[in-house]
Formats: sequence, structure tokens, C-alpha cells
Amino acid sequence: MTNPTPEKVEKFRQQLRSDWTRDETVSAWRKWHKQIAEFTRGATDALLTEASLHGGQRVLDLASGVGDPALRIAQIVGPAGRVIATDLGSGMMSLAAELAGQQNLNNIEFHEASAESLPFPDASFDVVTCRFGAMFFPDLQRALRECQRVLKPGGKIVFLVWGIREQPFTSTTVGVLLKYVPAPEVDPDAPSMFMFGVRGRFESALKEAGYRLVKEEHIRVPARWPGGPEEYWTQFTEVAAPFKPLLAQLTPEKLKEVRAEVIAGLKASHVQDGCVTMPLELVLVSATK
Ligand SMILES: C[S@@+](CC[C@H](N)C(=O)[O-])C[C@H]1O[C@@H](n2cnc3c(N)ncnc32)[C@H](O)[C@@H]1O
Repeated sequence: MTNPTPEKVEKFRQQLRSDWTRDETVSAWRKWHKQIAEFTRGATDALLTEASLHGGQRVLDLASGVGDPALRIAQIVGPAGRVIATDLGSGMMSLAAELAGQQNLNNIEFHEASAESLPFPDASFDVVTCRFGAMFFPDLQRALRECQRVLKPGGKIVFLVWGIREQPFTSTTVGVLLKYVPAPEVDPDAPSMFMFGVRGRFESALKEAGYRLVKEEHIRVPARWPGGPEEYWTQFTEVAAPFKPLLAQLTPEKLKEVRAEVIAGLKASHVQDGCVTMPLELVLVSATK
């Protein structure tokens, strides 16, 4: 990674906004949110354990999407605490707001905001959390400095991101897809899902932004999709915003072939009791202001 020009960063910003806020992405996340929450429960648990939250805290959750982990956090900080959930677009968060209503959570509010520019006063949060969001921040340093600004002195930041690219989550789907379509040309400066699989990269970024007590852990958590491989593949084709351009290159016949190969591969090594299971390789980072 070099230092991209501001024009390049702006290009990434526009692309990411369009990927994540378009109706197609939002409706896919709405459709599959329950299963995704179950599949990634281990990831949420790891983040919450590291954050060691307690009643009465004010927590800012970035890139909250359809509400993970913001809704769980609202339960933990209780009526004396408050969660501010944020995301680029209101589409995903509208479901999170509905779920909060169903769970009678009155201590959570939702704001449309980029992590790079937070509309909150200085020193107003005890903790900032983010699950599966930071690898999409076009200017990570800017976002980390914003988090530092809104944290109270001694406040904590806890982020969870994807780890190495070489893991079952990718080999079982994208790995197969890439046998059928040419690998896309990747700009090394562009944000990408597995960029923090490189050991020490996130830790260095946190230190550069001026945080103390910086910790980076590469963890493996079990994941179980509450359905079979056919359903898992359908979900993948609908949800995975970063991989849509690859899928779009396939003819309907080739798409069928990819589907068959993905399902056979999953059945061979990642199905237990009819459900897709695999370990997820993740990176958990925390630091103090
Ligand atoms: C993979 S989803 C994760 C959502 C949720 N935190 C979860 O774990 O299920 C990524 C989310 O990051 C959001 N996002 C991407 N770039 C962002 C930015 N610069 N600021 C805030 N949110 C952003 C997207 O809109 C999307 O909802």
C-alpha cells in the first residue's frame, strides 16, 4: 500500500458508497440478516468480550449495517447507557431500527454518517466499536483520528475485521469463481476485504493515529450457517457486494457450473448436520485513547 492521492481516495469513496447503499445490497441484507447474524455470532462474541462493556456506557458503533453488533451492545449497556449506531446509508439501518423496536430497545439511535467524518462532539463516547467495516474505510487514518476525537480520555476502540484471504470463507466460493473468470485487476491502494490479514498492519495504523495500549490478535472462530450449501450459495450471490462484478461476468450456463462446483465442495468438507460450517479467520484490534 502506498499513499493514494486524494483524487484516488475520493474515487474509492464513491465506489464503496454506491456498492453499500444500492437497493439491491440493502434488500439482500434484509433478506438474510437472521442467518448472517447466526453465522457471525462467534465474531460478535469475540468483539464483545474484548470490549468488556458494562451498564451505563455510551458506545458509538461504526458501519452498523443491519445492527450487528449495535443491538447486542444496547442490551449490555442497558437503560442507563446509550448506543449510537452509524452507517453510510439509512437503508441497512432502517432494518436495525425495526429490530430495535421489536426488542423494545429505547437506548439506541441511528445516524447516517461516514466513519471518516463523525457528526458528534469531542470526548463523547466511552467505547467505539466496529464489526466488518474498517476494511471499507477509504482513508483509515482519517477514520481512526475521528474515533480518537470522539472518545473520552481513556476510552477504548475495538474493531473486528476479516483476516487472511486464504480461508474457507473465500476458498469455498470466490476461490471457485476465480477458476471461471479472470481475477480482477486490484488497485493495491484500494480498500479490500482481507487487507488486514497482513500481520501488524492494523496495529501500525492505530499507533500511527496516536492510540496507546494497542493490541492486534489474529483469531479463528467457528461459524455455522443455519441452512444447507444451496442456500449458502444463493445468499453469497445476493449479499457479497465486493464480489458482484465477478458474478456479473458469468453466462447463465457458467453460473450453473460454478454453483454446482461450490455446492459439491461445501458438501465434501464443510457440511455438518445439513448446515454449512467453517472456521473464520479474523483480526481483532483494540486500543486506548
Ligand atoms: C459488511 S457490512 C458490516 C455491517 C455490520 N457491522 C455487520 O457486522 O454485519 C459493511 C458496512 O460498512 C458500511 N460502510 C462502508 N464504508 C463505510 C464508511 N466509510 N463509514 C461508515 N460505514 C461504512 C456499509 O454501508 C456496510 O453497512
